[in-house]
Amino acid sequence: MDVIEIRGLRKTYRRFRGGSTVALDGLDLTVGQGGVFGLLGPNGSGKTTTIRCLLGLAHASGGSCTVLGKEPTRGLQDVIHRIGALVEAPAMFPNFSGRRNLEILAAVGRLPKERIDEVLEQVDLSARAKDRVKTYSLGMRQRLGLAAALLRDPELLILDEPANGLDPAGIREVRELLRRLAAEGRTVLVSSHILSEIQQTCDRVAILQRGRCITQGDVDDVLSRGRKSGLLMRIVEPARAIDTLQANGVSAVEVDGLLEIDYPSDKGREVVQMLASAGLYPDELRPHQVDLETVFLQLTGEGADVAAASADQNPPDQDPGTPGEPS
Ligand SMILES: Nc1ncnc2c1ncn2[C@@H]1O[C@H](COP(=O)(O)OP(=O)(O)OP(=O)(O)O)[C@@H](O)[C@H]1O
Ligand SMILES: [Mg+2]
Repeated sequence: MDVIEIRGLRKTYRRFRGGSTVALDGLDLTVGQGGVFGLLGPNGSGKTTTIRCLLGLAHASGGSCTVLGKEPTRGLQDVIHRIGALVEAPAMFPNFSGRRNLEILAAVGRLPKERIDEVLEQVDLSARAKDRVKTYSLGMRQRLGLAAALLRDPELLILDEPANGLDPAGIREVRELLRRLAAEGRTVLVSSHILSEIQQTCDRVAILQRGRCITQGDVDDVLSRGRKSGLLMRIVEPARAIDTLQANGVSAVEVDGLLEIDYPSDKGREVVQMLASAGLYPDELRPHQVDLETVFLQLTGEGADVAAASADQNPPDQDPGTPGEPS
């Protein structure tokens, strides 16, 4: 059974001043068991809305979804104890210590107290556990939220931008934590903006755009969809090198001080021979590999599209359609 199944999910928010925003526009997504699944997409593409629908924090306007086999609007209470979630900044008591906050959560959830030390250790907060939460940095609060999500020893973790506000070391810790959790047999669904992180952390990814899934699959498969065959070369006289290659029927362009050469990446020797015959020798030669960021920009349109989407951080829209939702 798939851990999460989303079919034709729609979510429309009514705008305060009339009209509506379509946040999810027929989203299809399948998250199988185990591993880390990355949810990617420009600002406003519907990542958080998807996660809120999955956790029953928002009501879908159409379509269907199941989490651990249950519909969030009906059977979520049967499976919620198997799920750990972190959506936006988690609410904590600022005047209590991190440990006290976890104790309260453990008491509410009737969870064993021994878990608290384990999860504090897991998120590397043990040393500051006795300090008040209001003295924590953003990254420490984020880690405390992760600790809270782990308290129940969940088989499914749903995390919205867990690396938000973390410094590079913190981001790496989260990455290692997610890999470890997956290695323990859990399923992790994680949304992120940090494409290089997703590429290093996730087994599978889905890319959302305007409330739809435009591609999903193994990270390697998704990367191969954007793959360009070719070579990258650093060379002292790029203009002469381009002329020489062109004389041999090979096209090349200079981008950011590197030559992008349209030639099979496993035939570098032939390119070097062409250049050597003109007395030119490369300093550096490697295959032109496409990373997730390139594929993401190719699939979601130009960079301008992403920039435009982030500029459109919608004005104070409200959602009178679902009153009482936690925001
Ligand atoms: N409570 C709300 N009321 C009205 N519109 C909303 C609400 N929540 C989200 N939206 C709109 O729905 C769309 C999708 O938003 P969502 O927060 O799901 O995107 P996201 O992919 O998580 O973006 P980000 O990368 O910025 O976190 C956006 O246009 C957003 O403005
Ligand atoms: Mg979001």
